[in-house]
Amino acid sequence: MGIQKVEFGSLNDLFSEHVDINDPHLKERAEKRNQKMVEMYNRQAIENRIRLYQDKSLWEGAPLKFGVDDWQPNRRKNVKQARELGNKAYKLAHQMVNKSFNVVMSGLAGVGKTSLALMMAEILQQHDKTVMFVSADELFRLCNDQYDFPELKAKLRDRMHFMNYADVLILDDLGAEAGSVKQVNSKDFNGVRRDMQRLIYDIASHRFEGTKEDKIKANKKGIELTHPVRSTIITTNNVQEELERIYNSRTISRLITMKPEHRLAFNDMEDMRKESDL
Ligand SMILES: Nc1ncnc2c1ncn2[C@@H]1O[C@H](COP(=O)(O)OP(=O)(O)OP(=O)(O)O)[C@@H](O)[C@H]1O
Ligand SMILES: [Mg+2]
Repeated sequence: MGIQKVEFGSLNDLFSEHVDINDPHLKERAEKRNQKMVEMYNRQAIENRIRLYQDKSLWEGAPLKFGVDDWQPNRRKNVKQARELGNKAYKLAHQMVNKSFNVVMSGLAGVGKTSLALMMAEILQQHDKTVMFVSADELFRLCNDQYDFPELKAKLRDRMHFMNYADVLILDDLGAEAGSVKQVNSKDFNGVRRDMQRLIYDIASHRFEGTKEDKIKANKKGIELTHPVRSTIITTNNVQEELERIYNSRTISRLITMKPEHRLAFNDMEDMRKESDL
């Protein structure tokens, strides 16, 4: 689009056309207009932040989306349980807008854990919350590859920062990075590699107890931080004891909530992937 050339004469005309200096409501109008501009900039800033955290996500493959209408309980064998799980996730997402708490979704492969976590993400983003999705496997890969590719060290550091500060972090398929359930339960299993343990512990403690900056800020304001400071949603195929074997109880107690109202167990659900393969 070309820049329009404005003659000085016509600029004066334009001014008198839009601003009546004798208008008794001029000040009020100008204030209203400024207020609107501020609101517009604030909205833009919120949307940019939401997009930034979304873009920092670590996906296994292409980014995924799953909306409220995509969850179809009728497609599951156990329709009642699917409906209950969908409703519970929906309610928890709305509660999470105003309060921080952790949620865990556990169950076998293909039962819909990631889908409901993504549904919660969409609701939260619609309510101006920043959400970051991190595949535990992808994070593990990044942690592993940083020694061969130095540029990945900076990427990992950058993602760690965003994982600390996202209003809501989805840690997807936690435990998968440690291998099969059989391997995890074998006698000589010693947990996932130490650097990954350290990394997950740092994320867990920063999100639960707050970062150093959070603590300084709270101190200055004279307020006590409530735990967890920021919400984390975990999806996993592993049971609690297995996760404690993979990481340790100090880490897991900060990530996995024991509150039944925040736990979604997909026990009796069948694997939808197998069904669609038939
Ligand atoms: N109730 C449902 N309505 C519509 N699609 C569903 C439903 N449940 C599961 N699916 C679909 O089934 C597939 C597997 O679901 P999803 O990836 O959420 O499972 P998961 O429990 O996270 O599995 P995994 O443990 O392997 O990660 C996805 O394509 C998902 O969209
Ligand atoms: Mg999944």
